[in-house]
Amino acid sequence: MRTTDEGTAAMLTTVDSLPTRPTAGLSGPSASGLLPLARRGDGLVGSVIDSSTSLLAAQSHDIVRFAMGAPAADVTPARLLTSIAAEVWDESSFTYGATEGEPRLIQALVEDSADGPQPVHPERVVITSGGMQGLDIAFKLFVDPGDLVVVESPTYTNGSATALSYGADLLEVPVDADGMDVERLEDAVAGARRTPKVIYTIPNFQNPSGVTLSLSRRRRLLELAHRWGSVILDDDPYGSLRFAGQHIPGFGQLSPHDPLVFSVRTFSKILAPGLRVGWVDADPRLHPLLISAKQAMDTCTNVPNQHLVAEFIRRGELDEHLAMLRREYRSRKQAMTEALADQLGDGIATTDPQGGFFLWVTLRGPNAGIDSRRLFEIALAAGVALIPGTALSPSHRFADAFRLCFASCSPRRTRVGVRRLARALDQARDEAPTRTPAGSAATR
Ligand SMILES: Cc1ncc(COP(=O)(O)O)c(C=O)c1O
Repeated sequence: MRTTDEGTAAMLTTVDSLPTRPTAGLSGPSASGLLPLARRGDGLVGSVIDSSTSLLAAQSHDIVRFAMGAPAADVTPARLLTSIAAEVWDESSFTYGATEGEPRLIQALVEDSADGPQPVHPERVVITSGGMQGLDIAFKLFVDPGDLVVVESPTYTNGSATALSYGADLLEVPVDADGMDVERLEDAVAGARRTPKVIYTIPNFQNPSGVTLSLSRRRRLLELAHRWGSVILDDDPYGSLRFAGQHIPGFGQLSPHDPLVFSVRTFSKILAPGLRVGWVDADPRLHPLLISAKQAMDTCTNVPNQHLVAEFIRRGELDEHLAMLRREYRSRKQAMTEALADQLGDGIATTDPQGGFFLWVTLRGPNAGIDSRRLFEIALAAGVALIPGTALSPSHRFADAFRLCFASCSPRRTRVGVRRLARALDQARDEAPTRTPAGSAATR
């Protein structure tokens, strides 16, 4: 393994090499002259977040990974999953499955949720290939080119990219400590002079800010959605990872069987993202369309992995696993906030998530004016990875902020990463400051 200094010398990578659209092969400006590409390609913006996976894999120096929102290898039950797979996989696991999902997985979801706050009703469920496919189907079903889609600012830009791929016009609404600012949403919609088709929200421990939508704002959002006839696209991968504070009822609890609520769920954050298994919970009358949309994409979700997840749940392992994750993430978040306070003090402000994976950090005081895209480059060379704020807004706001994932690293490793981050900030301050526009609502 190389030392950090050797890595620095070898670092040729800049934040601009994190493409927001594919750069290799047939795509890009050169291909458009050569090949009869569809106009839809103009709406394909890709994901800086996802591209960071390949970028980090290509580095040969030691990097503390605060960038991707992935559960750490050390809390993934790989051995248990492997041994369950050996027991349950048979011939029925390796053929095509039902598009709506394997009955045993739907059954497991229903039974597992029966005593909880948000029971799953089998007629509302379609199993998907991860949360991303749920988002893709939702935008495909509801968005025509030119339709208005509300997104949080900052947001999970893979979600906003999916809306863009169907030609949406995006309306970015600021987030504060209580989630999407619903009053500002009303003003913004009045200003836009048209109502949104879809309101895309991540209500719990939002990616990227870590904040949670308050109960009163959830209620108000439901009222507004009904007044406007808008769909609430309720994307909640982190809801069962609450490690502090009280449960806040979800949209499905506040407004049961509401046709305007379309919920996207995934096993990626609570079990393992490589499985690519998730589900949507939506009005049963939508199901014929949902299934047609999925049949035109991938026929069915990976069958062996559905059997694996079903058995994991049936044995009661998921509940134990979630309890372990909540304990672990509580201590990882604490380790990160303590290390940040210790190393960076007044130079930053952070959000205070009560669950999930992410902290949102805003540069201030002596660090005001540092551009997080430049910080990304310096930090990567110094052996710590983050996601610059600009990658988390479709209009590239938040140059004064960045996202850190506290879930992926042990407390000891987190302290190493934060020390490297502090050094990177020293270096960034020593360079001529690039003034950045303020605008991190989440930490105010
Ligand atoms: C808010 C949000 N929605 C959806 C997804 C996508 O989930 P999956 O990996 O299951 O497609 C993620 C993953 O980071 C996410 O954070």
